[in-house]
Amino acid sequence: MRSSKILAFSGSGRRDSYNQKLVNIAADGAKASGAEVTVINLADFSLPLFDEDLEREAGNPANAAKLKELFIEHDGFLIACPEYNSSITPLLKNTIDWVSRKVGDEVPLVAYKGKAACIMSTSPGGLGGLRGLIHVRSILSSIGVIVLPDQIAVSGAGAGFDENGQLKDEKKQAGIAGLGANLAGFLEKHIS
Ligand SMILES: Cc1cc2nc3c(=O)[nH]c(=O)nc-3n(C[C@H](O)[C@H](O)[C@H](O)COP(=O)(O)O)c2cc1C
Repeated sequence: MRSSKILAFSGSGRRDSYNQKLVNIAADGAKASGAEVTVINLADFSLPLFDEDLEREAGNPANAAKLKELFIEHDGFLIACPEYNSSITPLLKNTIDWVSRKVGDEVPLVAYKGKAACIMSTSPGGLGGLRGLIHVRSILSSIGVIVLPDQIAVSGAGAGFDENGQLKDEKKQAGIAGLGANLAGFLEKHIS
């Protein structure tokens, strides 16, 4: 049987993003469980704000096509998303929207349907971005992604990471790595 393939990214393009650090930890957990993991930074795939007129007149941007190809090639996603005003970031929503668009005779939602995801967040605040995850889960579920029940929101991000990008709190570090391992384990059982 082949190894499962996981695409890992955060909903922040900020330099030194806490959520990008968080998803790196989960990615290492998935790798340690035997998955093949590709970590990307959405800042490397800049996209215009989705607009149907733009789509009709100029077609799919090259970065949207590249991202869609990456999504299609992978069995599951590890996603760490910051909470902006209690919800998903515009970067993650815009990415999801571009990648959701059907091009030519593609199967609708080909990049999402039947895939699995594990979501997490971190924030300097006390709730760790928990309220945003409700929306991330809802959006992904609506487009056919199986979002695993376990999720973690890590509070106190400002002082939470060491200079190597690891969480100083050992329990939190193990919890986030465990999310990656969970997704790898789920995919191993379910990919053909
Ligand atoms: C527009 C905006 C809205 C924000 N709203 C929230 C919020 O509702 N809850 C929260 O915990 N943090 C909020 N924050 C703070 C972010 O959690 C913080 O900027 C965090 O570092 C973003 O994640 P990143 O480090 O991965 O980029 C907000 C930040 C911005 C820019």
